[in-house]
Amino acid sequence: MKTIAFFNNKGGVGKTSLLYHLAWMFALRGRKVVAADLDPQANLSGMFLQDSRIEALWSAGGGATVYSAMQPLIEGTGDLLPVAPQIVDERLALLAGDLSLSEIEDELSSVWPRCLSGEGRAFRVTTAFDRMLRGVGTSRNAEIGLIDVGPNLGAINRCALIAADFVVIPVGADLFSIRGLRNVGPKLQKWRREWEARRREAPGTLGFALPDGAMTPLGYVISRYASYGSDAARAFQRWLDRAPSVYAESVLAEAPPLGEQARDRHRLAQLKDYRSLMAFAQEARKPMFLLRPADGAIGGHQAAVRACYDDFNELAETIEQRIGL
Ligand SMILES: Nc1ncnc2c1ncn2[C@@H]1O[C@H](COP(=O)(O)OP(=O)(O)OP(=O)(O)O)[C@@H](O)[C@H]1O
Ligand SMILES: [Mg+2]
Repeated sequence: MKTIAFFNNKGGVGKTSLLYHLAWMFALRGRKVVAADLDPQANLSGMFLQDSRIEALWSAGGGATVYSAMQPLIEGTGDLLPVAPQIVDERLALLAGDLSLSEIEDELSSVWPRCLSGEGRAFRVTTAFDRMLRGVGTSRNAEIGLIDVGPNLGAINRCALIAADFVVIPVGADLFSIRGLRNVGPKLQKWRREWEARRREAPGTLGFALPDGAMTPLGYVISRYASYGSDAARAFQRWLDRAPSVYAESVLAEAPPLGEQARDRHRLAQLKDYRSLMAFAQEARKPMFLLRPADGAIGGHQAAVRACYDDFNELAETIEQRIGL
């Protein structure tokens, strides 16, 4: 299974919405997918599951969510429990998120330096997200694992990113997103380097494979692109024009690209602001590109639904190619 994290420390740039729609699109394209909600805000779980279902999972314990699976490990009473995947569709499963996940931030932070002295427990805690995702991936025979994280550069995200073979960076076209991009790149490089140093100290008796922590950048996705000739669209364009060089310099540690061809090489997609389609989709708890007239997508909305299908199908195909599927 190839794993991809959707990451940017800037909040609200469309990470979760993008992951949700891609999870469905990969499944529609015949791929088996596991999505892991590793954001303590648990928004991804909220998109897939009814509130009553989420509430039941949060009080169930025993591996119903990514947090309860880790409880014995955190409390020192045992190892990671198997997570029960929520089956959304034949080819699509979710590892449910949990608001309580924020409680383990300090523990993840404190075990990080202890990996350097080869402590087994430090490795068991640090690799817990990777192990739960790969465990479910193997049992479901999944080809793609998708990881949703919150908008920060903390210890939870560091452990989530260690589980990622690849990283997609969703960006909005504004000052804050471009700034966010400047922070993401060096952080990924630092985490990759630090994990490599820790892996070398791992005891041989762990009994599970350690992740590579490759975090290979696949490119960036512009979300909520304003395609109209307004002042907002022009301001948008100014920031967009800066994204390729900021991406090359800070994420790839390369010189800024020259010329149009090079400029767009890492831009995986430029998604529109889907406006009311997104609202219909949230209401109907289904992806925008599967909306029917009965879901409110009547008249001209049906053409928008088809265009949206094409946008995500194309993006899914691009990603499959780049990860070698
Ligand atoms: N292409 C889009 N068109 C219209 N609305 C969008 C689009 N992408 C995201 N949104 C909306 O923008 C808001 C933020 O999106 P989302 O929750 O996916 O961002 P996020 O980066 O995951 O946020 P956070 O940093 O809090 O995790 C949501 O209300 C979502 O419905
Ligand atoms: Mg989110």
